[in-house]
Amino acid sequence: MLEKIIKTAEFLNSKGIIDPEAGIVLGTGLGGLTTEIDIQVEIPYKDIPEFPLSTVQGHAGKLIYGDFGGRKVVAMKGRFHYYEGYGSEQVTFPIRVMKELGIRALFLSNAAGGVNPEFRIGDIMIIEDHICLVDNPLIGPNDDRIGPRFPDMSVPYDRKLIEKAKNIAAGLGIPVTRGVYLSTTGPTFETPAEYRFFRIIGADAVGMSTVPEVITARHINIPVFAVSIITDLGVEGKIEYTTHESVQAAAEHSEEKMTRIMKELIAEM
Ligand code: HPA
Repeated sequence: MLEKIIKTAEFLNSKGIIDPEAGIVLGTGLGGLTTEIDIQVEIPYKDIPEFPLSTVQGHAGKLIYGDFGGRKVVAMKGRFHYYEGYGSEQVTFPIRVMKELGIRALFLSNAAGGVNPEFRIGDIMIIEDHICLVDNPLIGPNDDRIGPRFPDMSVPYDRKLIEKAKNIAAGLGIPVTRGVYLSTTGPTFETPAEYRFFRIIGADAVGMSTVPEVITARHINIPVFAVSIITDLGVEGKIEYTTHESVQAAAEHSEEKMTRIMKELIAEM
């Protein structure tokens, strides 16, 4: 795998993607952040060797490089999910490539269902911890040149970045919540009993992404910051018919606020 990672990173270098300081992954309805990037290079995933193709509507499937918050960043507009049929190696491959390109921190976003009864649609939740209910992406032979066989997970999300983000949000007058994100494979949204179960086992929000990327990043010792936009509620009495389109629309509504926080955070990282 290391050979594939290096080959892809060298290809991206040859296209002008050089020494990005931060990696960004944009979730459903959250691609608007890229309008704030002073774009220097933009490459559709289909043109990148070894990259899978994003098949989800609302995920444009482009790698973008440019200046954001005064830093060079590489951003994924659209990510890969297990429910598309990809294996964990494919879902997390871009994270490994970003590390090879030189990123020093990873910033992730997603749309999620809120199971904390205090949450409201549109809330921005800083992820402080997670519960992984998908296959662990590190299952399989371990390459010790990439990372350890048994990675520590006691601090999955970088505490300094979380503190900074909270201060930035307060300074901007943007309310944020904090919580535990639980990942399922999807593609179904949850039944009422599943939402209830996820709340009981300690989740605040549930979604179909992010955790495999976080595990991969921690395996290679990259600090991670992640946020969920709450797009629907898995709370008794508040559960409504949910579609990809309703999730997209709700995420787009909070996208600008998330972008402002991310921009300052990356400037200060
Ligand atoms: N469940 C799972 N994934 C999601 C949800 C949800 O309620 N909302 C947005 N992504």
